[in-house]
Amino acid sequence: MPDRLLVAPSILSADFRDLGGAVRLIEDAGADWVHIDVMDGHFVPNITMGVPLLKALRPATDLVLDAHLMVSNPLRQIPWFLDAGADVVTFHLEAVDDDEARTAIADIKAAGAKAGVSVKPNTGLERLDPLLPEADMVLIMSVEPGFSGQSFIEGSDARVSEVKRRAQEAGTEVLVQVDGGIGEATVGCVVAAGADCVVCGNAFFKAPDPLQVPRLLRQAAEKAEKGAVQ
Ligand code: DX5
Ligand code: ZN
Repeated sequence: MPDRLLVAPSILSADFRDLGGAVRLIEDAGADWVHIDVMDGHFVPNITMGVPLLKALRPATDLVLDAHLMVSNPLRQIPWFLDAGADVVTFHLEAVDDDEARTAIADIKAAGAKAGVSVKPNTGLERLDPLLPEADMVLIMSVEPGFSGQSFIEGSDARVSEVKRRAQEAGTEVLVQVDGGIGEATVGCVVAAGADCVVCGNAFFKAPDPLQVPRLLRQAAEKAEKGAVQ
């Protein structure tokens, strides 16, 4: 597992007139991953960005491009995102059956990318069990997917610790990413619960000084982790 908290700003909250500038800001701030929220207007009500945008950003950065697919047909779209150069591809468990989930993970890993499985706030975590030895990452949604700028759903940290516990029981390890309403006030509880990576949309791009945000999030996380150990 990573030795420091991974911070993944979501460009959904950026100024769409200058996405190249948004990626440079993420680099200059010392953040780790560029989180790309793909919404199809079907799995979620909103429509955001897709393969051509990821393809356009690929030559602009060496940072990890982290594609979060909120789409109804991930098996069809996954190869396109892999071809476009995504480093992490995460699909939603609610959009697939168990066989499709296994196929999706295998396809992503065969292309040399990291495979993530995401769960909405009310989805039971037991369906993840057979996938944990195969998946590289579980994304715990801490808001209902669809829009940036929503409030963190209290209790999401308990779902992070439950995933970590289930992975341990399955004799495996999995990265846990948390997405939705993460900022200085909420990062502590999810990191203390075991989160390895946090997505931040508004908390990064709408901050008075985005360059400071990764450092402030890591500081708040460290403080909470120390508190949890004592
Ligand atoms: C929600 C998206 C999130 C969201 C994050 O469906 O997956 O990545 O845009 O934005 P904030 O951090 O503002 O909640
Ligand atoms: Zn996301």
